[in-house]
Amino acid sequence: MADQTYEWTVTHSENKLPAAEREAILDAPVFGTKFTDHQVVVTWEQGKGWHSASVIPYGPIMMDPAAAVLHYGQEIFEGIKAYRHQDGSIWTFRPEMNARRLQKSAHRLALPELPVEIFVESLRQLIDVDGDWVPQPVNEKTLYIRPFEIAAETFLGVRPAQRAEYRVIASPVGPYFTGGVKPVKIWIALDSARAGRHGTGEAKTGGNYAASLLAQSEGYDNGCSQVLFLDAESATYIEELGGMNLFFVYRDGHVVTPALDGTILHGITRDSVIQLIKDRGISVEERKVTLDEVRAGVNSGDIVEMFACGTAAVITPVGQLKSRLETIGAEDPEPGELTVSLREELTGIQYGTVEDRHGWLVKLS
Ligand SMILES: Cc1ncc(COP(=O)(O)O)c(C=O)c1O
Repeated sequence: MADQTYEWTVTHSENKLPAAEREAILDAPVFGTKFTDHQVVVTWEQGKGWHSASVIPYGPIMMDPAAAVLHYGQEIFEGIKAYRHQDGSIWTFRPEMNARRLQKSAHRLALPELPVEIFVESLRQLIDVDGDWVPQPVNEKTLYIRPFEIAAETFLGVRPAQRAEYRVIASPVGPYFTGGVKPVKIWIALDSARAGRHGTGEAKTGGNYAASLLAQSEGYDNGCSQVLFLDAESATYIEELGGMNLFFVYRDGHVVTPALDGTILHGITRDSVIQLIKDRGISVEERKVTLDEVRAGVNSGDIVEMFACGTAAVITPVGQLKSRLETIGAEDPEPGELTVSLREELTGIQYGTVEDRHGWLVKLS
């Protein structure tokens, strides 16, 4: 961003939600339903670069019906949380990783790459005006922040847009799964794939999620809350869930997770969990994992725990895996020991009650 435009303009909302109403929302936040009083907007234009960084009141986006994003899906996003600590300070977790992942997604979707420092500053700017929306540190409440970038050029035609917007909105959240830390049931998608070789699986782009929704609703119909995708080519290898990465804990102690092979999102929680497991002297294998291996492992008792992880759900035990052909695992197993203790350690770091020995936290306010 050019020097003269790195100044942030802040326009305060004149319609801020009254404190009592905000507090009522923070008492029992429902994921993704209520939003804070402001949003961030930074614009990019071909030949001009990033400019006009601003914080403005939350509200609808004025957009031409011919805006490229509405037709060709040139859109990417991130998900990151702000955590309040006991002393009232507000922190976030490894934001540079989200910033770099947004850049990678931008590259894949032929969108402009937002500089890392503008990404991190955009979180600070939003928290500066909407810090009151970060809930007290009880019941895993946080402020979920959603940075995203869209092709905003008014143009019909299949080519990269010459105008883009980066925006940030935020929504207070409680636990992702309403049932608490209970093992979730997973639906194995046999009839739809999420990402193919050289496709967009590694990017965090809306199209991947659109492609997952049919299987997701099949999953709901079958009592499952998440979908497991297999590799698109052979439907043999386990990739990831619709919004989380997967881990398997073996009886002899070692842990296995699918390798990042170009079709899986590089989860920041996944990376952190691998580190926390290694810190305990436990070996983690990142490699190909077949559904056959998991079926055999669960049936023989070789696999003793399965868990999923992501920013929204943190670390969640996985119970049964189901498809239209089979059911793998017990109906309602107890959450695994390693799963629970990693979850406590990670949330402890995020809420400032466990030492942040890797320097993962960044102060926002
Ligand atoms: C498809 C997918 N996989 C994995 C993850 C987990 O990534 P992270 O830990 O960075 O939230 C997410 C959530 O962002 C996701 O949408």
